[in-house]
Amino acid sequence: MAKHTIVKLPGDGIGKTVLEEAIRVLEAAGFDAEYIEGDIGWEFWKKEGNPLPQRTIDLIEKHKTALFGAITSKPKDAANEELAPEHQGKGLVYSSPIVGLRQHFGLDICQRPCKTYKGNPLNFIRSDGKGGIEEPVIDAVIFRQNTEGLYGGVEWSNPPDDVYASLMTHPKFKKNFGNVPRDEISVSTRIFTKKATERILRAAFEHAKKYGYKSVTVCEKPNVIRETSGMMYAMAKEIQKADYPEIELWNTNIDAQMMWLTKTPENYGVIVSGNMFGDIVSDGFAGLIGGLGFACSAQINPDSGIGVFEPTHGSAPKYAEFDPPITNPIAMMASACMMLDHIDEGDIAMRVRKAIAEVISEGKVRTYDMMKLKGSPDVVKQGAASTHQMTDAVIEKL
Ligand code: NAI
Ligand code: MG
Repeated sequence: MAKHTIVKLPGDGIGKTVLEEAIRVLEAAGFDAEYIEGDIGWEFWKKEGNPLPQRTIDLIEKHKTALFGAITSKPKDAANEELAPEHQGKGLVYSSPIVGLRQHFGLDICQRPCKTYKGNPLNFIRSDGKGGIEEPVIDAVIFRQNTEGLYGGVEWSNPPDDVYASLMTHPKFKKNFGNVPRDEISVSTRIFTKKATERILRAAFEHAKKYGYKSVTVCEKPNVIRETSGMMYAMAKEIQKADYPEIELWNTNIDAQMMWLTKTPENYGVIVSGNMFGDIVSDGFAGLIGGLGFACSAQINPDSGIGVFEPTHGSAPKYAEFDPPITNPIAMMASACMMLDHIDEGDIAMRVRKAIAEVISEGKVRTYDMMKLKGSPDVVKQGAASTHQMTDAVIEKL
């Protein structure tokens, strides 16, 4: 029997391709595992009216560790049109299965590391002011609260009577929106709970302590969003003072942070944010280390130990049918490494990361994004490595 059982969730589009490539790498690295495939994504929405069938939830519940490719989400109207005729008119509503997974399993700790690979032609550079360039080494890890906030799904258009009546009790709502016709109002809430806020903050501080980062930055907007951002920053101050006095606590506003990250990104270590701002700041940092082909993530519930590991990119439908596939599998491989860390296979993770780093620094094998080509079926003819060739190169280093 294999030592580990991993639920593989290919999903849609390029998710299917990059997941298989990452598994090839894991196997070449000697990771002893059996893989069980779980159904998820657009295909199951169309066929069954549910992009996240219960059987998939049961599989993850049982085996606890899942590697996820990517899914396709489409707006409401398109989702309804593509639903199989026998499911139409039943009032089924599409919702993103990855958001569903996060909420169902309480995967509230999302970790997105953004580290420079030496020799990556997509690395961030800036002027050194003397006619030359500087290439700062970036090593930031974003901790994003993954289940609440603006992505909590508590929202209305034309809010119902009781909600509208409650909103009208707020003086600012009454003053600024009280004269707007109700059917012209849409409301999305931003709910933070103390429990979840404390968990993401502690996860960030623990990571900083374990890996020797000197600072934790709370990246929110407490001067304007006083209740939610304000609560997070106030709690961070208490936690830092009580339990992590050796780590510096910094406070940045999301807008200013987006400016600072293109000026002095090397200054930042661990960053912690709510759901929406964490999504934004992690994409911002990912852009400095090569973009979606490199951005990996872990989503974990530390209580149950359930973890879902995925690249942050989506299903890239534009490229899904290319033969050979051209997208960069490194983000998926790096996500698989985060999975290995989570299940105490850190040695294998280290070897895979080293192999990836060697391929990048050698510079002989580069996918189209690394060559700054526009994605098209003939990038391979122009010298870009295909998805398979990049994987082969990593396996050769292993
Ligand atoms: P996307 O991430 O799928 O692709 C955007 C662009 O980034 C692509 O056209 C391509 O140029 C580039 N790209 C993405 N992955 C790459 C890779 N591995 N190597 C090289 N280049 C890569 O985002 P988009 O186009 O906004 O969304 C497409 C679909 O994916 C939508 O249905 C969206 O809802 C879904 N999505 C799913 C996510 C998930 O499964 N977690 C996350 C983001 C989007
Ligand atoms: Mg994002």
